[in-house]
Amino acid sequence: MRLDVFTLVPDAFAWIRERRPIAAVLDRELELRVFNYRDTTPLTARQVDDEPYGGGPGMVLRVDVVAAAFDAVYGGMPEQRVVALTPSGRQLDQALVEEFAREPALTLLSARFEGFDQRILDHLCSDAVSIGPYVLSGGEIPALALVDAVARRLPGALSEGSGEVESFSEALEGGLEYPHYTRPADFRGWKVPEILLSGDHGRIETWRRERVRSLA
Ligand SMILES: C[S@@+](CC[C@H](N)C(=O)[O-])C[C@H]1O[C@@H](n2cnc3c(N)ncnc32)[C@H](O)[C@@H]1O
Repeated sequence: MRLDVFTLVPDAFAWIRERRPIAAVLDRELELRVFNYRDTTPLTARQVDDEPYGGGPGMVLRVDVVAAAFDAVYGGMPEQRVVALTPSGRQLDQALVEEFAREPALTLLSARFEGFDQRILDHLCSDAVSIGPYVLSGGEIPALALVDAVARRLPGALSEGSGEVESFSEALEGGLEYPHYTRPADFRGWKVPEILLSGDHGRIETWRRERVRSLA
């Protein structure tokens, strides 16, 4: 899969290349490309945004700047889905992550300041995605969240089986995962449930299933 991220803060994507799960799949199952709108802007002095028509605070990412970035990278409109990260988008959930992970390629657009000129969302994007009902300063953290969530669904990203039984997975019928414990078995009197120390895998499995919390 190829993920193309367009951003004003390309540095924000440096560290994830060295960390699992992305490091495990990078240059194998995943090609991650990061583009700075400023590198291809048709405006002078690397300008990418402008004041909003109608007045008001803040600066708005220009539609011609995003179109120029697509021309430079794709020679026009990308063939793959183009996902704008915006608080007004569809809220990201595991079902949408799984859907994105099946795509051969995705383009992610992030903005800063007041956000996107609406024509970017209307004419240059296929999807608009929010990572939650709150406002961040830029689309880099939302894009990182999406890249991470998608990358960990790719073959080889996680150790065998660890991505199959977790919160929101089919194996747990979309529910929240059961609690985990590790050593020490007793810390300040806070004891690990006896059953987990019993070695009885059948009863442990039943105990865990009983603790999966449904979202409904
Ligand atoms: C300060 S926000 C713009 C907020 C916008 N004026 C509004 O009221 O909805 C700047 C950028 O951060 C990103 N962003 C902020 N919060 C987000 C969220 N919850 N989900 C996805 N992207 C977000 C988007 O790319 C957005 O255009």
